[in-house]
Amino acid sequence: MELAIFGAAPMFAKPQPVGFPLVEPDTERRFHRLVDEVFRRNYLTNDGPLVRLLEEEVASRHGCAHAVFMANATLAQLILMKALGLESGSAVVGANTFVSTAHVCEWSGLTPVFADLEPETLNLDPREIVRLAGPDAKAVIPTHVFGVMADLPEIIRLARERGLQVVVDAAHAFDCDRAGVRAGGFGVPEFISFHATKFFSTFEGGAVLTDDDALARAMRDLRNFGFAGEDDVRSLGINAKGSEISAAFGIASLPALAERRERLRGIYGRYNRELAGIPGLRTHRLDRHGGNNHRYYAVFVDPGFGASRDAVVEALRRENVLARRYFYPGCHRMRHYRGRDRYRGVRLPATDKALGSIIALPTWFNGIDWRDGVSGVSRLLKTIHERGAEVERHYRGKAD
Ligand SMILES: Cc1ncc(COP(=O)(O)O)c(C=O)c1O
Repeated sequence: MELAIFGAAPMFAKPQPVGFPLVEPDTERRFHRLVDEVFRRNYLTNDGPLVRLLEEEVASRHGCAHAVFMANATLAQLILMKALGLESGSAVVGANTFVSTAHVCEWSGLTPVFADLEPETLNLDPREIVRLAGPDAKAVIPTHVFGVMADLPEIIRLARERGLQVVVDAAHAFDCDRAGVRAGGFGVPEFISFHATKFFSTFEGGAVLTDDDALARAMRDLRNFGFAGEDDVRSLGINAKGSEISAAFGIASLPALAERRERLRGIYGRYNRELAGIPGLRTHRLDRHGGNNHRYYAVFVDPGFGASRDAVVEALRRENVLARRYFYPGCHRMRHYRGRDRYRGVRLPATDKALGSIIALPTWFNGIDWRDGVSGVSRLLKTIHERGAEVERHYRGKAD
């Protein structure tokens, strides 16, 4: 098989992004009907009936008392930290996360202290709490990377011993669990993302999952400028409300989730079968400790593969496979952080190793059957391996 980097036509006519939105025709039809109702009611935002219904559905799926819906997960984290009184000191944050997890610490007045990961899960290594939580530490913020749940029992234990609060980035973890316990069920608040690329989406959106009634009440006020009553502003709130249109899209998606989950599980299984046996290519296992929504599929390109990770990504991109290096280079190496004195000596070898070799592949395909999508990407990876030396030479030739 010839590759696009050597002049062939790309394997896929249309771009195949990792973050392709998951929208079934029935979901779209249900959404349009709900939007018609929104206009008939003429109730567009401010805690409307669809927002309340969405909150009930999300909370009950996750087995917790409250899901407080917000405009996005970034604001959900900001409001959660405010409601918890986290406004100064430092927070131990897994460096392998989307940069917003760290940024929100700074917006809240806390210094993020970046922690290394467990290679098996790519999540914050609990032992890092012991190493990194200094006298000014106030919180630990693990992320359930790719919906693989962090070791919350151990993280909570170590945090409690040190008087730290645990705030969890469950952005990827809708419908995921650890030994049967879902995000929101561990007794600590977790924020989740409903961004357009996630397993469950409201275009933009997010929520905090919690069992704590007082915390939920405080966050409902904070997301609405701090209003506790019509003319009664009790806290320094902001506008983080989600609209009825966003909620409508979430509600319209709910009936599709069981089938969506099955489909993604099928894609995960098919990739595993088709990629098995390619030397130097390792699959990131998603369901070692519990259920996963399989929204992401990631592989590691090890030295035995024959071409470097970045050469592989470039070759895939030329085939219209828009592979990503999530969360390369890690928060600790993002320009905003790495240039500052505080971060100059930070060494996170496990994070650097994982993020130097990871590739996330598409799990939802644009305009083609998913079986053809998975087989096409897998054939490409086999060919890139077989022609590894040439692929690498081509990449270096371009880079020089
Ligand atoms: C791990 C993680 N945390 C936080 C966020 C931020 O979510 P949002 O886009 O809803 O603000 C994202 C991505 O969107 C994410 O992947």
